[in-house]
Amino acid sequence: MRTAISLLMLLYSMCAVQTESQGTEAVAAEVSTQTDRSAEMKELRDMLVELRATLKHTQEFLGADRMAVQERLTDTDRKVAILHSVLGASKAEMKTEVDDLKRENAAQQAELTLLKTRLAASEAKAINLKVENAEHGAELTAMKSKLAATETEVKNMEKEIKSTPKVAFSAGLTDSKFIVAGSNALNLVLSRIITNVGEAYNNTTGFFTAPVRGVYYLRFTVLDVLDTQEMGIRMLKNGQQLIWLSEYDTDGIGTYLSSGLTLQLEEGDVVNLGILANYRLWDSSSNHCTFSGFLLFSL
Ligand SMILES: *[C@@H]1O[C@H](CO)[C@@H](O)[C@H](O)[C@H]1NC(C)=O
Ligand SMILES: *[C@@H]1O[C@H](CO)[C@@H](O)[C@H](O)[C@H]1NC(C)=O
Repeated sequence: MRTAISLLMLLYSMCAVQTESQGTEAVAAEVSTQTDRSAEMKELRDMLVELRATLKHTQEFLGADRMAVQERLTDTDRKVAILHSVLGASKAEMKTEVDDLKRENAAQQAELTLLKTRLAASEAKAINLKVENAEHGAELTAMKSKLAATETEVKNMEKEIKSTPKVAFSAGLTDSKFIVAGSNALNLVLSRIITNVGEAYNNTTGFFTAPVRGVYYLRFTVLDVLDTQEMGIRMLKNGQQLIWLSEYDTDGIGTYLSSGLTLQLEEGDVVNLGILANYRLWDSSSNHCTFSGFLLFSL
């Protein structure tokens, strides 16, 4: 730099000398000036040589420096290129990875949506099943209680059936003759058993004895061939007369008397038939006279 400034100053001074030399005495001073100018020119040339050397040196120095810089630049470029390629590769890799992840995510999302839908469907089904189950439960409970009630009813009925004896009888007269009450009332014993389920009728005494408290139906039919004596029949409960029927005629033609009663009897109550004093009946062993009865229901 200093060399360049010196060069500039020299050039300037040369111009100034040229301007000064324009005058009338120019020619006179020509010779002395010529000498000075030569010295100056030499100095100038030397300086130029020095300057060139400096310049060359500077250029060499700069050249070496540039080469180093160039090398470093090249190296840096290479490194940058490597980094670029590495970055590019990793970018591509990352992109692939991101794409994969995106795809996976999308697939998972789809699967999740599907699962959610299925879950919702399952939940709805579960709720329906719960409702149905509850309904079935209620129905089952109702049916169970109904069944229990029915079972109780059946048991009660069984008990009732077991505790209610079967009672039904029919009895007739074995005698083919007149049955005549003398001066005393006669107990009518129909000794021929036709039916005697439950054995409540005794064919020795002629008594029907109620085996349980209940409602019974008891009836009779009797015959007489009327000529000289009145026919008559009565039904008694525990010795108390419930019915008294009689008939009188002398035409000798058979006449029937028949009646029956629905009776509420206590266990042990006795019902029987009888004939009052001086009355009579007749039978021909064809069951004209019968005594029947049966239990309607117990109480
Ligand atoms: C009378 O009753 C008894 C006992 O039930 C029976 O053995 C007998 O045969 C009965 N008599 C007639 C004539 O039915
Ligand atoms: C009928 O009654 C008589 C007299 O009470 C008794 O001796 C007899 O055992 C009874 N017959 C039946 C089959 O119960």
